[in-house]
Order: sequence, then structure tokens, then C-alpha cells
Amino acid sequence: MKNLQGKVAVITGAGSGLGRELAKVCAGRGMKLVLADVDEPGMAQTLAGIRKAVPDVAAVSMRVDVSKLDEVQALATLARESFDGAHVVFNNAGVSAGGPLWEATEADWQWVTGVNVYGVAWGIQSFVPLMLAQGEGHVVNTASAAGWVNAPGGGIYNASKHAVVAISETLAFDLRMAEANVGVTVLCPAFFPTAIVDAERNRPPELADTAPMSEARKFHQEMVRHAVMHGRISAEEIAEMTVSAVEHDQFYVFPHKKIKQLIKARAEAAEREQEPFDTMAGAKA
Ligand SMILES: NC(=O)c1ccc[n+]([C@@H]2O[C@H](COP(=O)([O-])OP(=O)(O)OC[C@H]3O[C@@H](n4cnc5c(N)ncnc54)[C@H](O)[C@@H]3O)[C@@H](O)[C@H]2O)c1
Repeated sequence: MKNLQGKVAVITGAGSGLGRELAKVCAGRGMKLVLADVDEPGMAQTLAGIRKAVPDVAAVSMRVDVSKLDEVQALATLARESFDGAHVVFNNAGVSAGGPLWEATEADWQWVTGVNVYGVAWGIQSFVPLMLAQGEGHVVNTASAAGWVNAPGGGIYNASKHAVVAISETLAFDLRMAEANVGVTVLCPAFFPTAIVDAERNRPPELADTAPMSEARKFHQEMVRHAVMHGRISAEEIAEMTVSAVEHDQFYVFPHKKIKQLIKARAEAAEREQEPFDTMAGAKA
């Protein structure tokens, strides 16, 4: 979608991190904003920041839990009623829970899968029909490098992000077969500094059941916190790359170039058939 001016951007997870930066970049391109998050004060902060730079931005926001289909459908209704459509939908909300897989609880799986996988599925289900009817659109799914290469301790998160890559590729093929004028982009960053390290802050009470903190889980959390907080590319830069990918109808976005080398090395490990690809050793190489 070459010209985003006047078009409508729907952004989930807009109350923090990458979602906030995506909202800023979209506003800078002259887009109207439909923001969604479970964190209402966070969204208010996002909007206040944007209004300083773009005082006349047209924007609405709604508290939406993306793991709930009816809430994402209500978001689509808001976009239709406020701005008569939705052109670029960023299925971006995401959470993370870590530790050895055998320690993970049912609630850990439900929470992370609910937000990271169902959130993307419901975004597609609620907005793509609208895009097909209006004759144009673009879906951006935030996956991760974890959608390609698997670090230890991130089993649920890795599985959820592999699902996002699979969903995105399949969606692109389905739209091609339907000859639809709807593009797809899948964003696959490695670590970058955001509040994802404190994702538990927005975990719903009904899915709070998690295992007691083991040494292994503590080690994983500290490792991830360090990696996220020392990420060399900012959320702001990644947001700019992502919106530019929409403008150039680019499917994959790998802000961290090293990930493409790791994917090749993983394919070589698959070729050898002997051992699982060791992402950590590959990243150090
Ligand atoms: N930061 C990283 O290192 C990194 C790396 C790769 C991919 N990602 C992905 O980037 C995306 C954005 O994460 P971030 O790093 O900006 O983290 P963040 O915690 O700063 O932002 C995530 C936002 O999602 C919201 N959210 C959580 N549960 C929700 C729900 N059920 N419904 C709606 N909103 C919900 C949170 O309230 C928060 O505002 C996620 O999909 C994440 O997996 C992050």
C-alpha cells in the first residue's frame, strides 16, 4: 500500500513498546488510528505522546483482550463506525512466559497462546473480510526471531511465534488464491528493549496459575531480561522498518540481519538430521 495518508491503522498492543512506536509512525504518515490494548492508561499515554507531535491526529481506542474473538470483533466495529474501514491491521500484542517446558502450567499455555496465536487469528478473522469488501488492505503480524530459531526456556513463546509465521505465510497464499488486493507482512525481530520482560503485569487473574519459581526459570528470565534490555535496535527503528515494509508490500521483515544466517544454519542442521540446531551456539559464532 504505497500511500498511507488518510488510511486507517488498527494496532493491538498499542499501550507500550513496539505498538506505541507503530502508532507514532502511522500518525506521522497521516493515518487515522484505532488503538487496542488491555492497558488503558498505556494507550492514553501513547495518544498523549502522539498528540504532541501530530495535534490533529484522528484516533480512537478501546480496551480489547485480543485472545477473545468477540472483543476483537468489537474493535472491527469501532473501526468501521469511526472511520468507515480499516486499511492496515497490526496484530502486534504479545506476551511471554519462560522456563523448562515440563514446568509450564496449563494456564501458561492458555495465556501465551491466547494472546500470541489466537490474537493474530482473531485479528485476521475480524478484519480481513472488511478489507476484502473495501478492495484493499494489509495485515501485519508481529512474530519474532523465535518464530524460526529456538532458544532454550522459551518453549511456549517459540511455539506461538512459529505459529504466527505459519499463519502469515498461509494467509498470504490464501489471499493470492482469492486474487485479493490485501498484502501481508510478518515481522521477525530478535530482542529489542521494551516492557515485554514484565509481560506478567497484564496477565489476567483467571490465568494466573503458574509454577513456583525454579532455578531454571529464574535463569531463563534473567537471560531474557538481559538480552531484551541490551537489544541494539530500538522499537522506534523497528516500527519505521515495518511501516516501510507495508508501503513496499514486503512480506518478511528481519530487523536483525543475523537471524537470516541462523535460519540458514538451522536448515543445514535439518539437512544433517543428527541434532537439533543450537541457536545459542549459532548466535555466538
Ligand atoms: N521486545 C522484544 O524483544 C521482542 C522480540 C520479538 C518480538 N516481540 C514481539 O513484539 C510484540 C510487542 O511486544 P513489546 O516488545 O512491544 O512488549 P510490550 O510489553 O512493551 O508491549 C506489549 C503490549 O501488548 C499488550 N497486551 C498484553 N496482553 C494483551 C491482550 N490480551 N490483549 C491486548 N493487548 C495485550 C500489553 O498490555 C502491552 O501494551 C509482541 O508480539 C512480542 O512478542 C518482542
